[in-house]
Amino acid sequence: MFRTIEWLDDTSQVRLVDQTKLPLTLEHIVTDSHERIAASIKKMEIRGAPAIGAAAGMGMALAAIESKARTIGDLLEYLENAANTLNTRPTAVNLTWATARMLETAKNATGSVDDVIQKLIDEAKEIAEEDVRMCRSMGENALEFIKSGFTIQTICNAGSLATVHLGTVGAVVRIAHEKYNGDIKVYSAETRPRQQGARLTVFEFIEDSIDTTLITDGMIGTVFREGRVDCCVVGADRILRTGHIINKIGTYTMAITAKYHNIPFYSVAPTSTIDMETNPEDVIIEERDPDEVRIINGEYVTVPDAKVYNPAFDITPPELIDAIITDRGVVRNPTEEKMRKLFPI
Ligand code: MRU
Repeated sequence: MFRTIEWLDDTSQVRLVDQTKLPLTLEHIVTDSHERIAASIKKMEIRGAPAIGAAAGMGMALAAIESKARTIGDLLEYLENAANTLNTRPTAVNLTWATARMLETAKNATGSVDDVIQKLIDEAKEIAEEDVRMCRSMGENALEFIKSGFTIQTICNAGSLATVHLGTVGAVVRIAHEKYNGDIKVYSAETRPRQQGARLTVFEFIEDSIDTTLITDGMIGTVFREGRVDCCVVGADRILRTGHIINKIGTYTMAITAKYHNIPFYSVAPTSTIDMETNPEDVIIEERDPDEVRIINGEYVTVPDAKVYNPAFDITPPELIDAIITDRGVVRNPTEEKMRKLFPI
């Protein structure tokens, strides 16, 4: 699997896969502008919590170069504005986590403006490399739950394309697939309205010769009742200290349905997705353009001014989650006490 996003050392540019074109065309966007990165995040040319975190980190490094600042004060002011521009989606905590980390790096750095800019470039590259390492650790930590011959239900895309490389759920599936000599199957829910399951998850697992079956979101109950899957493994855009997970719309319904059918439900995410501060009722759930629901492939599938509600994410409470799997370890039957033990503030 290719890298979703990378820093090009030779030209000081960022190169990312345009995910809106997949699976039919593999095109890249190459840019030296943090505003272009912000637009890419907003338009979902790059999406998935860890991937947009990495993009924001690199966007901040581009902003530092663009600033042409002569003093550290000017550089910091430019970076504060860039962070506001880059924070275009409110739900995935990785985005604000990355811009805050880059601002901290700039504030703590010593030396000339050029030295600080170089530190920011290094930090952005480190955020991306860390993500690759964390994904691998999560995949390894998940192995205690995944047996040879398992069929795994997924939603949305938490594969390579949602991270820098490998994926969160992607790592779980790929590492188990490798360990069990290919004896792992996937059911991918289509994930209306943006169809990340159909367009991206099926695409990348088939590229890796992983046996993958596409279903529409409404088929989940039937698939569970017919005993077709052994467990659900989903990603997360934010995991709270209470053990609530915020993930793609449809995750909550899947978790309730899994509970009814006694199917284990796991969420897998890196440390950068953990939010130990926000309360469940304070999480902002992104509401997207109503036309994402009204229009399919450029054509209205309903009356053009139909009233629409289009929340992009939902919140699944801890009592529906069998384990949260992170790069640091596993929290079974999550509670605040157990979360605090693994993630002390
Ligand atoms: O709206 P998206 O496509 O950015 O939503 C992505 C998801 O909900 C993923 O499941 C989540 O970011 C985890 S990705 C490793």
